[in-house]
Amino acid sequence: MVKKAVIPAAGFGTRLLPATKSQPKEMIPVVDKPVIQYVVEEAVASGITDILMVIGKGKRSIEEYFDRSFDLEQRLEEKGRTQELEAIKQISQLADIHFVWQKELKGLGDAVYYARHHVGNEPFVVLLGDTIVESPNGPVSKQLINAYEKYGKGVVALQEVEKSVVSRYGVIDGTEVESNVYRANDFIEKPSVESAPSNLAIGGRYLFTADIFKYLKNLPTGVNNEIQLTDAMRLQTKANGFYGLKYKGMRYDVGNKMDYLKTNIILALEREDLKDEFRDWLKEFSKNL
Ligand code: UTP
Repeated sequence: MVKKAVIPAAGFGTRLLPATKSQPKEMIPVVDKPVIQYVVEEAVASGITDILMVIGKGKRSIEEYFDRSFDLEQRLEEKGRTQELEAIKQISQLADIHFVWQKELKGLGDAVYYARHHVGNEPFVVLLGDTIVESPNGPVSKQLINAYEKYGKGVVALQEVEKSVVSRYGVIDGTEVESNVYRANDFIEKPSVESAPSNLAIGGRYLFTADIFKYLKNLPTGVNNEIQLTDAMRLQTKANGFYGLKYKGMRYDVGNKMDYLKTNIILALEREDLKDEFRDWLKEFSKNL
């Protein structure tokens, strides 16, 4: 049973400046919830009960958000605002949430390495704290857990992207072993269009076995002078095998402005309490564009 998740949330978020100058990008709201709450909710819906968030300087508001807020609860109770009260209480009860500080921002691989003591010897899920993933087949982390339970190896979520944009992503070089499941031969970070072995991009959700820490240890810096998680996955692929799972659905990297804007619209249109009024307004508004 996979019970632990790690959410890296220490990055600078420079692509969303100035909004992220003094506030974590993971706390930026999408409709009415911070991005990271969607991520935590996906983990919880996948059966995760223990979450480690990797945070850094300027990220204290993430800790506060997931802590209880007694004064606010009392105020809402006095005013009889039960709906808001329940929503607030529920945030701190979602899971057992822990924090560790990444001392220097050396990259995603380094952020995940900080989880080694907390995770111990168990398999665990990694969910990027600035990325919302939606699938009609249920939570993507749960889909990865199911694949791990079948194959017993690390599994990464893959998303099909246009061939012309592969150089923005890490992609798998893999062999399809069953519908939508690939055994990895290798992973290539930001390949050129001509050399890309596939158009299946690594998609913000991972299932790792604990030996990933062995490969992250002493890993030299890679692309962009950062410690790259993909480099550790390559080592693990060669040594022990790794899988990829192509999921149906959408990935919203809220850390870039265009995706951020689109995500707000798409998720607002999915909300029962907002969608009708918002859709009518949007239709009217777009007539004048
Ligand atoms: P990004 O690749 O989006 O990096 O990280 P970033 O530095 O936050 O963003 P930009 O490019 O400056 O806009 C993906 C996820 O990994 C975390 C980020 O917080 C984000 O949730 N991360 C990244 C870390 O925790 N530590 C790092 O050193 C880098």
